[in-house]
Amino acid sequence: MKSRAAIAWAAGQPLTIEEVDVQAPQAGEVMVKLVATGVCHTDAFTLSGADPEGIFPCILGHEGAGIVVEVGEGVTSVAVGDHVIPLYTPECGECKFCKSGKTNLCQAIRATQGKGLMPDGTSRFSLNGQPIYHFMGTSTFSEYTVLPEIAIAKINPAAALDKVCLLGCGITTGIGAVLNTAKVEPGSTVAVFGLGGVGLSVIQGAVLAKASRILAIDINPDKAEFAKQLGATDFINPKDYDRPIQEVIVELTDGGVDYSFEAIGNVNTMRAALESCHKGWGESTIIGVAGAGQEISTRPFQLVTGRVWRGSAFGGVKGRSQLPGYVEQYLNGQIKVDEFVTETRPLEEINEAFEDMHAGKVIRTVITF
Ligand code: APR
Ligand code: ZN
Ligand code: ZN
Repeated sequence: MKSRAAIAWAAGQPLTIEEVDVQAPQAGEVMVKLVATGVCHTDAFTLSGADPEGIFPCILGHEGAGIVVEVGEGVTSVAVGDHVIPLYTPECGECKFCKSGKTNLCQAIRATQGKGLMPDGTSRFSLNGQPIYHFMGTSTFSEYTVLPEIAIAKINPAAALDKVCLLGCGITTGIGAVLNTAKVEPGSTVAVFGLGGVGLSVIQGAVLAKASRILAIDINPDKAEFAKQLGATDFINPKDYDRPIQEVIVELTDGGVDYSFEAIGNVNTMRAALESCHKGWGESTIIGVAGAGQEISTRPFQLVTGRVWRGSAFGGVKGRSQLPGYVEQYLNGQIKVDEFVTETRPLEEINEAFEDMHAGKVIRTVITF
């Protein structure tokens, strides 16, 4: 199969659009024709060269949605024509992690996925005979991609694929962190640091969890309006204060919030988020991905006195069993997605999409094929 794809040749280089060869799906694999894909910070992180796991040349992209066009031997859970979302966190249902009931971090194909390969240790992509690596097991910056069956969520075909692709990463990550990881209870107070696609989705999750007060924190005042539309009760700009923002939040909330979330990827705001929590029970969830080699710190007394620090990947969501439910919630109006698509571009303009993201001009650009 020939496929148009954006290839990342080397760290820091712009992507180029090429016609690659995509091999047919092998046993247990599925070929998907992508309809749309978001562009996310993790793609930029790997492209920058900062990702120790980054391998070039590769096809980036992990926030996609598409239609099954071919299935390999033994595939039973999806069929040609099904609408699907690729999962960078798969769900095999059989590994120790899947069976634990405590995590969504399925490890069934982790080793090969991290090496840019399919579970059999080879790539399905090539250009003039040269193998091109996969990325996050998804490679959604290609019109056609091949995925293991365990890395595909089958969704309601009524959902617009050029919108629900965003449920493949950012939006689900934010909502899931609130509902699955922190398990915010009705009446809770919540603070969210960073109001990009992920942090704004934390607000959505907090609304779904019936939080009584939602403090939205960002250094960009332009973020206030949409945050409030989504249900934030307070907007706080740390630049308006000349003291640590955690002090301000503790004061505003009679001792601190019940739950805080960090959706920036900055180790200083991770500390501020923890220290914004109420003594005795406040819990802080790290969602943002910090730069390679960075470390978090706080005084241990913060934890001794009852605050909890935790983290969340893909919102703790088990993709095959839970993501279809997120799509249903989108369809019945409980989850907003359309408003997060602030730009749509063809694949040919993917480098511009990266530039807009770096400039903070967009919540999300959706690339359509
Ligand atoms: N204090 C408060 N807000 C900040 C700060 C700061 N020190 N630094 C940046 N911000 C705000 C930005 O103004 C922006 O609105 O954080 C927001 C980050 O949003 P995006 O860059 O759009 O990021 P998003 O896509 O939401 O992802 C956030 O989650 O999944 C991870 O890798 C992802 O680390 C990234 C994070
Ligand atoms: Zn992502
Ligand atoms: Zn598993």
